[in-house]
Amino acid sequence: MTYENLSSKQLQSMLWWSQPDTKNYDAIVCDGSVRSGKTMSMTVGFVLWSMKNFNNQSFAFCGKTIDSLKRNVITPMQKWLEGVVKAKVNLSSNFLDISLCGHTNRYYFFGGKDESSYQLIQGITLAGILLDEVALMPKSFVEQALARCSVTGSKLWFNCNPDSSEHWFFKEWIDENSEKTINKNRLHLHFTMDDNFSLSDEIKQRYERMYSGVFYDRYIRGLWVLAEGLVYGTAFRKEHHIVENYTPTGYEFYYISCDYGTLNPCSMGLWAVEKDKAVRIKEYYYDGRQRGVQKTDEEYYSALEKLADGYQIQHVIVDPSAASFITTIKRHGKFRVRKADNSVIDGIRNTMTLLENDRIFICECCKDIIREFSLYRWDEKSIKDAVIKENDHAMDDMRYFVNTTMKRILKEIHGKGGRE
Ligand SMILES: Nc1ncnc2c1ncn2[C@@H]1O[C@H](COP(=O)(O)OP(=O)(O)OP(=O)(O)O)[C@@H](O)[C@H]1O
Ligand SMILES: [Mg+2]
Repeated sequence: MTYENLSSKQLQSMLWWSQPDTKNYDAIVCDGSVRSGKTMSMTVGFVLWSMKNFNNQSFAFCGKTIDSLKRNVITPMQKWLEGVVKAKVNLSSNFLDISLCGHTNRYYFFGGKDESSYQLIQGITLAGILLDEVALMPKSFVEQALARCSVTGSKLWFNCNPDSSEHWFFKEWIDENSEKTINKNRLHLHFTMDDNFSLSDEIKQRYERMYSGVFYDRYIRGLWVLAEGLVYGTAFRKEHHIVENYTPTGYEFYYISCDYGTLNPCSMGLWAVEKDKAVRIKEYYYDGRQRGVQKTDEEYYSALEKLADGYQIQHVIVDPSAASFITTIKRHGKFRVRKADNSVIDGIRNTMTLLENDRIFICECCKDIIREFSLYRWDEKSIKDAVIKENDHAMDDMRYFVNTTMKRILKEIHGKGGRE
């Protein structure tokens, strides 16, 4: 690749350590929109800075996990620096030796969420560290990593996409109203997609369509904001996403998603999935507490069979914690069961992406999911992103469906080489 298209923000984040007005900072923090060119410019800058100022020293590249670090930072870096430095990678041992102008340094790889990384980083002495996606790492790992930088002249390089305004990294490193931030000698650069000249307008628009609500504010506008209000407040538009009925095309597959509850409500949705969209065509919803009568697994199984009646079901996707109900479905031998991927925030973000891109519709007969769309809220008292666990049963079965069955369609929206 060539660097003639570097924006001034990218150049600054690459070369700040050599510029008279910024070289005395101990750290650089780059935050902002997805795909805005932060990782690329900082990685190149980190290698140039360390190679120019040190010889026979150790440095660290940290990502959320070692795998994501290799995928997003180490492999692209080798391309970006091809012909500039000599790099000898030892991917299986998780380090890289780089040589330039008679200097050689070693760069270790760590994953903030990998248990083994945590132990390994404890004993090491570093002359500098680059933390990619720092907001996704536990605070304890980041503190441990920073404490390892004891060599004179060492500098810290951070980048991330924004998270909640309650996030510890925002309060300690970004927020200019916080004392902890004020006491830090750091350069802060805020990126937007316009700082990456390699993105076409079409790609930028595709990313803009991928997010809505709080995720739009964070990933597109690059703001640190609390998740508040209705979860699907802007993503779900009744007049648009509710359809009168569903007419089969003959090319659809059917799935049922299920959020199981005995005291809490039990919700099941029947989905027709075509090449690029899914429609919830029928549902079952039973609130044992409100009705004063709890149902047994066998009774729920009968409801499942009734919902499936007349359709060939590919899979029943079930809440992974519903062990007894999964056993009941399997015992009857009629349906294939898939345990759902239950990651809440990822599931919500993915559901928003599908709504934003017109890949999910709801038939108007599905009254309970429509009701929950207008009640399901973020928990504004929570420090981490969290939802209020009320009116979330159809919301959960939809999330299981999206996270498990709609992965292919999500991949297509994200596009080749895109960010997931
Ligand atoms: N100046 C440039 N010339 C060519 N390609 C670039 C340039 N800057 C960035 N890119 C490319 O744009 C894409 C996004 O860049 P990068 O990964 O650095 O962004 P990011 O801000 O770290 O994104 P995210 O927040 O999603 O991690 C990458 O494929 C990268 O190689
Ligand atoms: Mg990045």
